Amino acid sequence: MNRLFNAVERDVFKDILRLRRDVRGNKFTQQPVPDDVIEQLIDAAMLAPSVGYSQPWQLVVIKSQAVKQKVYQSFCQKSKQEKELFPPDKQEQYQKFKLEGIIESPINIAVFYQRPDAPILGQTAMKETGKYSVVCAIQNMWLMARALNVGMGWVSILDPQVVKNAVNAPENSELIGYLCIGYVDEFLEQPELKTAGWQQQKSRQQTVFNDSF
Ligand SMILES: Cc1cc2nc3c(=O)[nH]c(=O)nc-3n(C[C@H](O)[C@H](O)[C@H](O)COP(=O)(O)O)c2cc1C
Repeated sequence: MNRLFNAVERDVFKDILRLRRDVRGNKFTQQPVPDDVIEQLIDAAMLAPSVGYSQPWQLVVIKSQAVKQKVYQSFCQKSKQEKELFPPDKQEQYQKFKLEGIIESPINIAVFYQRPDAPILGQTAMKETGKYSVVCAIQNMWLMARALNVGMGWVSILDPQVVKNAVNAPENSELIGYLCIGYVDEFLEQPELKTAGWQQQKSRQQTVFNDSF
């Protein structure tokens, strides 16, 4: 099969890319997420490219309030520490941001990288490519979630060991991303951190180089 995409389909894809958002606790609703939707997100993850076709991802679907509470406590501790790293005016702004939706979202998914115990084709020179593969899987989920009109947020302000302990992760599993998933009351048009003036959007000039930096 040599399926080609037409202009209308391309425009839909561009909209999914442009309108994908990181969703936080101030936007999630309590509307339950059907299992079928979770299955479609998992399918999307499992279609991701991976170094040597190693598929090194492991996903833990979390509904347990006890697990969520442990992760949330870790967020609280780590965000307090992170805030201190910014100058005073930024600290004030930081404090006002909602930077997770662990409790508010009905589903959390902890995504792990399973370290290999034998050489992987393509991963021997650049060891990190296994983890990059897991990030590809997360991005697939993020785009699929948006296509399903479901919000997803990535929380990295936490102690990965706390998450590992909370879900009994094996020793050779490394946390890559902690995701909050649920329906939303709205999808913002622009990244919140851009609108709030925390960080400006980079230009092509800052980003793209020809032949040499
Ligand atoms: C690796 C990674 C970690 C992130 N961690 C957090 C986080 O801990 N808390 C948060 O509020 N957003 C987090 N984000 C979301 C970013 O802030 C967000 O993607 C960025 O501001 C652009 O906004 P957008 O995703 O809505 O386009 C993370 C995103 C990535 C890719």
